[in-house]
Amino acid sequence: MTALLDAGERLGRDELEALQLERLRATLRHAYENVGFYRTAFDKAGLRPEDCRTLADLARFPFTVKADLRDNYPFGMFAVPEDRVRRIHASSGTTGRPTVVGYTARDLDTWADVVARSIRAAGGRPGHKAHVAYGYGLFTGGLGAHYGAERLGCTVIPASGGMTARQVQLIQDFRPEIIMITPSYMLTLLDEFERQGVDPRSTSLKVGIFGAEPWTEQMRREIEERFAIDAVDIYGLSEVMGPGVAQECVETKDGLHIWEDHFYPEVVDPFTGEVLPDGEEGELVFTSLTKEAMPVIRYRTRDLTRLLPGTARVFRRMEKVTGRSDDMVILRGVNLFPTQIEEIVLRTPGVAPHFQLRLTREGRLDALTVRAEARASATAGDRAAAARSIASAVKDGVGVSVEVEIVDPETLERSVGKIRRIVDLREGG
Ligand code: DLL
Repeated sequence: MTALLDAGERLGRDELEALQLERLRATLRHAYENVGFYRTAFDKAGLRPEDCRTLADLARFPFTVKADLRDNYPFGMFAVPEDRVRRIHASSGTTGRPTVVGYTARDLDTWADVVARSIRAAGGRPGHKAHVAYGYGLFTGGLGAHYGAERLGCTVIPASGGMTARQVQLIQDFRPEIIMITPSYMLTLLDEFERQGVDPRSTSLKVGIFGAEPWTEQMRREIEERFAIDAVDIYGLSEVMGPGVAQECVETKDGLHIWEDHFYPEVVDPFTGEVLPDGEEGELVFTSLTKEAMPVIRYRTRDLTRLLPGTARVFRRMEKVTGRSDDMVILRGVNLFPTQIEEIVLRTPGVAPHFQLRLTREGRLDALTVRAEARASATAGDRAAAARSIASAVKDGVGVSVEVEIVDPETLERSVGKIRRIVDLREGG
């Protein structure tokens, strides 16, 4: 395995930290000199790029948040002249202006390298075929996965999202070893395999590289079992690069190694912003170390995780992201993440791995209904037992009462990309 590692992956921890500091200082300088937003922010904090003498000094610098990107729409965060920007991606968000990101030719090269490294860590090899079912377009998933797979030496099948019946046919006919797809869309494919009478365990697929949304160990087991593949986690966000910021290694499946030679992680207390020691849970924050077109300094991801020491690689790991602060539901004072419900639904007999959370307001109190789908084989008695079992597991595990409705098979909306778990039916919600 070591023979396959690239130069960055072979660094010792001390060498890595020296490289990070050098790249960090260059990035702070680049941002300060070329982006009005950063110049103003550093000046306001009374800091110059040279004030960062150690990696820990980064904590003195101000955060960047999504609203800063929106306020500088479309190109105000770019640190190079527009004619050096080779590609633009954007995320629509739920309201208003999209968040725009840009890449120089070198940035695109770096991105392909880190995605190639990710696919290799997942077990992909040159000569494999990679079926890419992340959406192509302004979303970074499709094109990010695509160029990384090509860089590794794979044959890419750029399927994009949607047209599910055809996805199944392509997998049958082209015989890819790798699939890159959101976990929720993989479940939609699972239904389609069954509808077409094809055994999902019989395909050529060996490994699935799943990301773009939170998913649980229970979901990993479900997918691995139903498809007879290895399921590993890929993480990233457009503001920092796209997919390929961190990747789980197939041989350990113990969290995601952050490609720390390009992305410097911190975990902070989401309320006070104070940097937390490794091992403590908080909000993940990233500073880019090599980006040219759009460096980001201390970007707050809103993703909750902890930093852990490296295992299969020298780079630190992040624990599987269990939730975004944005997706947290506060129900009668109790914090609840959709992944907590996923764990429960997926281990409940009689229900399929499809569920939705409906938030309503009764008087002054918020209420949550878990809608889960019955398996076709479930009897009325199985359904009633499943509803009781989910409600009591949520009460015991999360500490809050919820309604549970078991709905008919094939009635909940299916995902073709990132799934929306929460349906907010509260007034003004
Ligand atoms: O989702 C990039 C990506 C594409 C990652 C394909 C992996 C695979 P955005 O649309 O900017 O970019 O959304 C980023 O998605 O802040 C997380 O909240 C969530 N996310 C991404 N990967 C994971 C993951 C892409 N593996 C946001 N686990 C991030 C949990 C994830 N959440």
